[in-house]
Amino acid sequence: SSPSPRHLLSISNLSPTELATLVNNAIAHKNSKLPTTWPLRNGLSNKTIALIFSKRSTRTRVSTEGAVVAMGGHPMFLGKDDIQLGVNESLYDTSVVISSMVSGIVARVGPHSDIANLAKDSSVPVINALCDTYHPMQTIADFATLTQTFSTPAEKLKGLKIAWVGDANNVLFDMCIGARKLGVDMAVATPSGYGIPDKIKQEIDAAGPGTLLETNTPEEAVKGANIIVTDTWISMGQEEEKAKRLQAFSGYQVTEDLARRGGAAEDWRFMHCLPRHPEEVSDEVFYGKRSLVFPEAENRLWSAIATLEAFVVNKGEVKKTEQ
Ligand code: CP
Ligand code: NVA
Repeated sequence: SSPSPRHLLSISNLSPTELATLVNNAIAHKNSKLPTTWPLRNGLSNKTIALIFSKRSTRTRVSTEGAVVAMGGHPMFLGKDDIQLGVNESLYDTSVVISSMVSGIVARVGPHSDIANLAKDSSVPVINALCDTYHPMQTIADFATLTQTFSTPAEKLKGLKIAWVGDANNVLFDMCIGARKLGVDMAVATPSGYGIPDKIKQEIDAAGPGTLLETNTPEEAVKGANIIVTDTWISMGQEEEKAKRLQAFSGYQVTEDLARRGGAAEDWRFMHCLPRHPEEVSDEVFYGKRSLVFPEAENRLWSAIATLEAFVVNKGEVKKTEQ
């Protein structure tokens, strides 16, 4: 293991070119269908990747485990009831010990400081599999989904308009940072009191060109949107706020009618990182012809492969993949 590995804690850690490369690599892997001659087939052979998950996961776990196996490695899933962390052992001790025995760590935690601390003391690359503030693996998959949908490389997504209607959360923050880096325009509608915190706003503004409109009116956000996105109104860890949140977000459901009233592009498409609840998007939209949600979910696998390739196999060097 390298003495100072490169970590992926948020999309902020990537240059615009690196983000575009990861996104394009994800789709290149998807299109290659991983032939037996695939150069990465043994990319992680005889290597263990620790998956430390302190929260539930369907997509992130399945995609990351699958990615490690596709590359010939061994994924070691460590759920919160499996290891001593948080009950009997500190983050520092956990990080030093686990990183001394594996080639990479993929971790899902609560506060961002947990993933930052895990990375600080780890001798191997740490990849953020979601924390309360960021979800970089989701962002890579989301932009991969757009490059696939519009049959264009990530560098050419410039000028696209994404409307986010719902809660300002971890998925949104990394999406906004990524949008800035790729020159994609964002419009974000949240109820008042649920907007983007100032500190994150500054981080987004510093990330590159592209615009960010914030409003409390969903119709205003979706005006001219090519893509409408939402996520749960109650993220993991916010369960106690459920009643209050359901009330605050009423009127924020993504529907055909909202898109029509607000004047979204005629051929607008819908995205959602999942898991989905009916209150944030109607069945008609979620299961309809505009919906990209299932390819978006599958693209988590291809993005996980691209991320592990760059951060573990290539030790933090993000370069165009070989096919
Ligand atoms: N989108 C996503 O991260 O889903 P999981 O929580 O199921 O991993
Ligand atoms: N914002 C959600 C995303 C789940 C993938 C959460 O943090 O729970």
